[in-house]
Amino acid sequence: MARHSAHTPTSTDTSLTASSASTAREAGGAAISDSTKRINATGTHTADSRISVSHSDDGVVAYAADLSKTYGTKDAIVTALDHVNVEFGRGQMTAIMGPSGSGKSTLMHCMAGLDTPTSGQVFVEGLEVSAMNQRQLTDLRRKEIGFIFQSFNLVPTLTAEENILLPLQISRKPIDRDWFKQIVKVVGLEKRLTHRPSQLSGGQQQRVACARAMMARPSVIFADEPTGNLDSRSSREVLSFLQDSVREYGQSIVIVTHDPRAASYANRVLVLADGQITQDMHEPSYGQILQVFAAEGNDEQPTQPTNPSEASL
Ligand SMILES: Nc1ncnc2c1ncn2[C@@H]1O[C@H](COP(=O)(O)OP(=O)(O)OP(=O)(O)O)[C@@H](O)[C@H]1O
Ligand SMILES: [Mg+2]
Repeated sequence: MARHSAHTPTSTDTSLTASSASTAREAGGAAISDSTKRINATGTHTADSRISVSHSDDGVVAYAADLSKTYGTKDAIVTALDHVNVEFGRGQMTAIMGPSGSGKSTLMHCMAGLDTPTSGQVFVEGLEVSAMNQRQLTDLRRKEIGFIFQSFNLVPTLTAEENILLPLQISRKPIDRDWFKQIVKVVGLEKRLTHRPSQLSGGQQQRVACARAMMARPSVIFADEPTGNLDSRSSREVLSFLQDSVREYGQSIVIVTHDPRAASYANRVLVLADGQITQDMHEPSYGQILQVFAAEGNDEQPTQPTNPSEASL
């Protein structure tokens, strides 16, 4: 099924301005400069000299430019993100690993407009998330972003079907029943649609959350430790679904995980340490991920590989 057409901002949107593009380029170094070149190539000048930006033809769905986030004040300041520059590929699964407290959740929250940066910029589909007001952020999260939490975040009084459809109903968007059926089939919930969360296993609840995230056909899904509360079989089911949604529907996904096995499902693996990206691996093997995992001083025990493509390792 064709994905929804990419959002093309107009001069009335909170779109990238010429000055913010150049700020991002200056701040972002080589990686960001590539994307802003693409922005300039596809951007068109509007009457008020702002640039209307479309990322629809390039390979970047979201990026951060010189992104920093600190918590607390002078005496007890915590630097959660320290001048991070990163691009997330369209139609790819990117995994973010790193020790506890390294800034993974903070990065996801800033990217998804759930938290505000202290400095720097965040863009999703060429829209500057970091410059949006609350109303614009709500709109962005409804249209462009899906978020999957470790703790599922389902509404306990609603059935699986009602939970999946809730975001569309809140935003009064039409429900594409064919797309709903397709997603429900892929996540294997056909016989569980009338069940409430308390009547579902953890894995089934997380698959409901995945289906909910997919339902609005977001440009990008951010998933913060989506398998953190699941056993290995349920993890495999959820990861397989996310991987299939990338392969079959071109979904863009960024997933935070502590588990090298889960990271091995991704096209790219980033490692965060002390609020900075220290590793960037493209199509790494499970063995390579394990090496980095060990080198980063993780004391957690990695689980056995369950991704079929890694089973021979
Ligand atoms: N609301 C907050 N107030 C103060 N400090 C915070 C807040 N949120 C996060 N931090 C701090 O920012 C740093 C990064 O936190 P973050 O939650 O992003 O880490 P993480 O990599 O997701 O860790 P984990 O793997 O344990 O989930 C930590 O030192 C944390 O204590
Ligand atoms: Mg976290």
